[in-house]
Amino acid sequence: MQEKVSPVPVHVGIIMDGNGRWARQRGQIRTQGHLEGLKAAKRVVKAASDRGLRYLTLYTFSTENWKRTTEEVGFIMGLVKQYLRGELDFYRENHIRIRHAGDIAGLPADIAEEIRRAAEDTLGCDGMQVILALNYGGRDEIVRAVRRLTASGGQAEISEETLSAHLDNPDVPDPDLIIRSAGEFRTSNFLLWEGAYAEYYISPKFWPDWTEEDLARALENFRGRDRRFGGAVTGGAVK
Ligand code: IPE
Ligand code: IPE
Ligand code: MG
Repeated sequence: MQEKVSPVPVHVGIIMDGNGRWARQRGQIRTQGHLEGLKAAKRVVKAASDRGLRYLTLYTFSTENWKRTTEEVGFIMGLVKQYLRGELDFYRENHIRIRHAGDIAGLPADIAEEIRRAAEDTLGCDGMQVILALNYGGRDEIVRAVRRLTASGGQAEISEETLSAHLDNPDVPDPDLIIRSAGEFRTSNFLLWEGAYAEYYISPKFWPDWTEEDLARALENFRGRDRRFGGAVTGGAVK
């Protein structure tokens, strides 16, 4: 069966990359890049909500990012905490629900608590859902899903459906579009399972420079994609 082409993505994932390079370019320390990256995230969340996106997954900290210095990791965690606290009113006013993807058990207790609180406080919000991928790795998510699936004892049927049902947010539809800033052509372990048929949009701009216009350009570019999901090419000129 031919899948329908969706001109507006329901779910967009963003690999917010290039904070460090943005800072280096200006002779500043890396943490300054993260601070500006947070401002960009706020701009893009607002723009995405205004444009009617239903789900926005923000890759905030990967399972591999622990390799960075204690200072940088601590700074990022502090920013997340500050963000979750400081932006709660904004989220509620805009009916945005906050969720989490990743291994919450591997996060510092205060951050995990802050995430739970933000998720609880916005549970009734029926607008866009922002999924913070924090201590997130696609491989780790699949491993945890398999563990959950098999935890009930050897009876579980292993299928794409049952495994999907044990991912971190099983009710969230697969991403239609994955955006990556800062020009790298790789997934870096983001939404490996869910992104099987996502369209990719790579932008050379560093994340702290991202504005509403950049999101608009990515969405416009997505409109022109021919999503075939493995089906045969139908009609149109051969490109
Ligand atoms: C993305 O920016 C933020 C995180 C991964 C936490 P980077 O910090 O990776 O920036 P670059 O890639 O070093 O420029
Ligand atoms: C991906 O960026 C992770 C986040 C944006 C949170 P990285 O900077 O960690 O990715 P690599 O190391 O360039 O692949
Ligand atoms: Mg990077």
